[in-house]
Amino acid sequence: MSTNLGAEIIKTVGVTKRFGELVAVNKVDYLLHENEVAGIIGANGSGKTTFFNLVTGYFPPDEGTVYYKGEDITGTPPEQRVAMGMMRTFQLTSTFDNLAVIDNLVLSYFRAYQKHSLFHLFTNTCKKHRKNEKIQAIVETFELQDVADREVRHLGLGEKRRLEIAMAILAEPKVLLLDEPLAGLAENEIKAVLSVLRRHIGTQTILIVEHKISHVEDFLQRLTVMHEGRVIADGGYEECLRDPEVRRSYWQIDVSEDGVEEACS
Ligand SMILES: Nc1ncnc2c1ncn2[C@@H]1O[C@H](COP(=O)(O)OP(=O)(O)O)[C@@H](O)[C@H]1O
Ligand SMILES: [Mg+2]
Repeated sequence: MSTNLGAEIIKTVGVTKRFGELVAVNKVDYLLHENEVAGIIGANGSGKTTFFNLVTGYFPPDEGTVYYKGEDITGTPPEQRVAMGMMRTFQLTSTFDNLAVIDNLVLSYFRAYQKHSLFHLFTNTCKKHRKNEKIQAIVETFELQDVADREVRHLGLGEKRRLEIAMAILAEPKVLLLDEPLAGLAENEIKAVLSVLRRHIGTQTILIVEHKISHVEDFLQRLTVMHEGRVIADGGYEECLRDPEVRRSYWQIDVSEDGVEEACS
């Protein structure tokens, strides 16, 4: 669907993960290119988060291979994958809830660029760096001006989600991995999060997991649909919606008997 695809950044070949008898991820082949904004959708329990965990190295696959820029990283630990440029929110960018928004951004910035110990930064230099150009730019992009001095524990969920993504982006990751970043958000907060993410389309590789397709239909360039651990469709939005297996399993309808319309509502 998308033109001018960049180089391959993440590739999985036949990755499988079992939990006892359950095959949570079943022989998944996946390919993500640089600067692509792609999504994985599927019902709860279809294996999306488990697949993410295999890609980010949270646990190894039972079978198959994970590549990053052509290099086999199947056995590479998560911290090392972060250092290589794979950034996942919610697990690796935890916020400090008793600190102000701006100071969380300062800490994130220094974690990525400087070798100062965090403790040294806390006690001596946090205030000094609040005006840093890069940090100020991210405050604006993510529309955090009004809450910059507020402690994180007093933020609304949508504001906190924007902060978490801002913190991840400050580290200039090669690929940003977002596992249900819209979960629990109200409609207006979803719009706000997507609008800040949109500003990075074309310059940032983004892989987003979402179980509600309606949230991301006009955001993603490519969709991959998972069902019971397998990829059942991959391609453009329309193409995936028309796919009979997607319609049968994801929307739980029988396509042989009725029309397309009710499937997509
Ligand atoms: N740590 C685990 N131990 C056992 N079963 C798990 C574990 N993680 C996930 N599962 C199971 O694997 C399947 C896929 O789960 P998950 O990847 O979380 O799906 P999704 O993110 O699509 O909702 C589910 O049946 C889930 O119960
Ligand atoms: Mg999940």
